[in-house]
Amino acid sequence: MKACIIGAGFIAAAHVAGYEKIPQVELCGIADIRAEAARALADKHHCRAYTSALEMLQKEKPDAVSVCVPTHLHREAVCLALEQGADVLCEKPLALAMEDAIAMRDTALGCGRQVMTAQVLRFWPEYELISQKLAQKLSGSDWGPLLRLDARRIAHSSRGDWFGDPQRGGGALFDLLVHDLDFVVSILGCQAESLYATGHQNALGGWVHVNALLTWPGGIQVSLEAAGDMPLGYPFTMRFRADCENGCLDFTSQSLQNIATAQQVSSQLFCVEEGQARPLDPGTFPEGANGEAFHRQIRAFVTGVEAGRLPIPFEQSIYGMKLIHKIRASLETGCKMILDDI
Ligand SMILES: NC(=O)c1ccc[n+]([C@@H]2O[C@H](COP(=O)([O-])OP(=O)(O)OC[C@H]3O[C@@H](n4cnc5c(N)ncnc54)[C@H](O)[C@@H]3O)[C@@H](O)[C@H]2O)c1
Repeated sequence: MKACIIGAGFIAAAHVAGYEKIPQVELCGIADIRAEAARALADKHHCRAYTSALEMLQKEKPDAVSVCVPTHLHREAVCLALEQGADVLCEKPLALAMEDAIAMRDTALGCGRQVMTAQVLRFWPEYELISQKLAQKLSGSDWGPLLRLDARRIAHSSRGDWFGDPQRGGGALFDLLVHDLDFVVSILGCQAESLYATGHQNALGGWVHVNALLTWPGGIQVSLEAAGDMPLGYPFTMRFRADCENGCLDFTSQSLQNIATAQQVSSQLFCVEEGQARPLDPGTFPEGANGEAFHRQIRAFVTGVEAGRLPIPFEQSIYGMKLIHKIRASLETGCKMILDDI
């Protein structure tokens, strides 16, 4: 299988590392409008560099393409790759505008190809374990019903470029909250009933700190916090907790540097049942949970391309974007949103 990457910035390196680990994949091209960025990454990984994505796609004819350009450019790159006959792994968040997400879906349908959003949390060792354990416990009766999910992603965002701009990156609402929201949707499905959110905006109007409360059928409560505005030096922190009547799962991970480059990560995952807290072991990974998650994500995408069925249903990504837009509406109006129309 042939793979190419559009965008040779920060996250592209994780995609390259993932493809390189899969024997049946030939990484053949990397395109970036910054010629030096494309060349540096392509030289390091012995493939061809391009400054035009279209030229790369026409020459290399890849089966699989990773889209790693800034968020406001996802639609153009995704649709181009689909039209040139590739299946696409698009970085998160899928899009800023709903019409862009819908256009990707329509183009994929029209071309007979598929798109998967790179929701890497679904492949993160601890989150995979949480997902499996919770499904197992909820299918039995010893833990009782699920009452609450609580997820947090709290950081100082050192990215002064396009990330915090509501027109280009969308701030913490689109960039951070989308991770946990997608993970919640993967557990609870596309049936949220209501939501309410409060938060803070930056000078450009991007939402940089968001607290959202959502409800799912059966009275399940979901609280999400996403923050990029913590003081300089605050450790990148992610947390997830699932509470049932008689049991609970609890995960905290903190790293003193940026999560993608961090070597010093302290993580704790435990479950509480029968009156006792027990640690859960997701395994040990030579490149850390972060590197492992990106490898698993690329492997799952490649396997999905080969099988003709990608592992994250695109409708769940569209639904997640709809919820993000409803959360933004709640932030802007201060009103609770009843979700009977999405
Ligand atoms: N999964 C994660 O944890 C994670 C982490 C960081 C970023 N991301 C996502 O990845 C995407 C890219 O983020 P990044 O941090 O790599 O950004 P970046 O700014 O470091 O890199 C983007 C690259 O795209 C290039 N580019 C811009 N327009 C282009 C075009 N038309 N054709 C080809 N290349 C073009 C830029 O020159 C740049 O090199 C964003 O959507 C972001 O939200 C995901």
